[in-house]
Amino acid sequence: MAAKLNAKGQEHQAEMYYPNQSIKDNANVKDYDELYKRSIEDREGFWAEEAEKLDWFQKWDKVLDDSEKPFYKWFTGGKINIVHNAIDRHLQTWRRNKLALIWEGEPGDVATYSYHALDREVSKFANVLKSMGVRKGEIVTIYMPQVPELMIAMLACAKIGAAHSVVYGGFSVEALAERIQDAQSRVLVTADGGWRRGKIVDLKKIANEAIGRSATIEVCITVQRTGQEVYMENDRDFWYHELMNLPIANAKCATEEMDAEDMLFILYTSGTTGRPKGVLHTHGGYSVYTATTHRYVFDIKEEDRWWCAADPGWITGHSYIVYAPLINGATVMMYEGAPNHPYPNRWWQMIEKYGISILYTSPTAIRGLMRFGDQWPRRHDLSSLRLLGSVGEPINPEAWRWYYKVVGNERCPIMDTWWQTETGGFVITPLPVTPLKPGSATKPFFGHEVAVVDDDGNEVKTGEEGKLVLKGPWPGMARTIYGDPERYKEVYWKDYEKQGWYKAGDSARIDEDGYVWIIGRIDDVIKVSGYRLGTAEVESALVSHADVSEAATIALPHELKGNAIHAYVILRAGLSGNKELEAALKDHVGKEIGPIARPETVTFVESLPKTRSGKIMRRVLKARAMGVDEGDLSTLEE
Ligand code: PRX
Repeated sequence: MAAKLNAKGQEHQAEMYYPNQSIKDNANVKDYDELYKRSIEDREGFWAEEAEKLDWFQKWDKVLDDSEKPFYKWFTGGKINIVHNAIDRHLQTWRRNKLALIWEGEPGDVATYSYHALDREVSKFANVLKSMGVRKGEIVTIYMPQVPELMIAMLACAKIGAAHSVVYGGFSVEALAERIQDAQSRVLVTADGGWRRGKIVDLKKIANEAIGRSATIEVCITVQRTGQEVYMENDRDFWYHELMNLPIANAKCATEEMDAEDMLFILYTSGTTGRPKGVLHTHGGYSVYTATTHRYVFDIKEEDRWWCAADPGWITGHSYIVYAPLINGATVMMYEGAPNHPYPNRWWQMIEKYGISILYTSPTAIRGLMRFGDQWPRRHDLSSLRLLGSVGEPINPEAWRWYYKVVGNERCPIMDTWWQTETGGFVITPLPVTPLKPGSATKPFFGHEVAVVDDDGNEVKTGEEGKLVLKGPWPGMARTIYGDPERYKEVYWKDYEKQGWYKAGDSARIDEDGYVWIIGRIDDVIKVSGYRLGTAEVESALVSHADVSEAATIALPHELKGNAIHAYVILRAGLSGNKELEAALKDHVGKEIGPIARPETVTFVESLPKTRSGKIMRRVLKARAMGVDEGDLSTLEE
């Protein structure tokens, strides 16, 4: 829907929504401009002040070390552990008995954990990991459904100084194998399955295949979720619940003192080339950044019930289901399954049942629920809601207005937060006091200067489209791409090396009020239902099919998903395309990468538009598909 938004952008700029008096009175930040000014004039001072709000084993020597740009370091010399801040320190206060997590499974089963209970589970599993020889610095791969054990496993790794690499449970064999291999993981934590739309996702079966394709896994720990029969191999496979009942699973475990810059996790995300990038985040800066953004943008209060309806397998879940809300001592809601299962009121029912005060979700989910009509949310008492949020792709004004009117009853400001796996947390976002324009992520968060520029780095005129850059470092920034620092420099910092700016990979424009409007990706990344995929990954899955010789993929606008993947395929000599093969290729991609990567259409072609150097011109395919001008064709091969 990005395209629709752009075309209409101008006309939407006049539409403004103002927060009511009670939002203003209770806001954690009452004057954005004042604090923003201070955060830019003294960026390090601002971040130091925020860092002071956390517990450090040892205070930092330097807030920002920029001696090896673009490899910035934050809070160097400081000793910290994110788990100490997310759990341990709360145990000394009354929060010990506060609910940390309310979880509901798709079949309707419920589990709750106080901070005290969460600590016990995390400590027990940390001891289990230790007994498996997991050491500081090692990367444990986690491949799970949305169950509490996913959060517990992540926290247990961090507690003992191991890093986690969570692979989204919707990914499939090849995607998992590739990530295990890149991280050289020795230990994998998974589940026998998970529930999605009344069906079981066979995680353990996929995990077994992926272990077969990667050489490094020695230990696989499996959570029993569905109870279905799965293959377990002697000496390699262990049941989580059995290990947690052994004496080694002691409920006391010391939290490791980490350097601020020690690795907390890697999270794979898609980029321009085939291989996904392991984006690396650290204990210190990431703790400070996620906690600060969460507290200010969502005005977190002690009594809040916070529901980020993302999957912990993506950055949104890492930062805003697991780490930031726990650091801020909030009560987190987590739900395993589909929003419309068994009926389209599932979410609204849970908001009412648990008294959720903040809901943070994606435009795709909103559009998906909007389609069922107003009666589903209207049947429920949603008066506990105070704030709403959106993330993952531009939100089209129609969906924004529905979310605002029907879900929020015109009381709840919508925080449209723009950020990325690489930024760790929100970068362009309103605060509750910010007047809102539907479809705009509004203004930069504290400590950030953003600009929309041309290829040479000149700011484009007000209202014109250009490339989005972030002008300075921030504590939550990715430190590198795991095992590939050159690629980190190349992808994010090379284009504006002279200026020292971070290239976001998005196009955007800034209007006369300084509001930022995100248009979409400018590289070969596709956002499908807010999920990030690379054209190259889908293409390599296609060519791994025996009948395919070449493939190109593009994104075209899709009413529900925002974008959908369309594939163009050249078959091996002598073969011709038909409906069965089209279906087989879609299934093949689904099996290799995951259902989210399934192309919407597969078109069989004789040739693909290429440059003389052999690069596929996806832009030309896209222009043709959309029936718009193909632009400059001078580099097109005859
Ligand atoms: O294109 C932008 C889009 O999502 C990209 C980042 O994807 P990922 O790393 O998967 O992180 C998603 C969750 C933070 C961005 O480059 N994007 C994210 N949030 C928004 C958005 N586009 C428009 N508006 C947003 N609020």
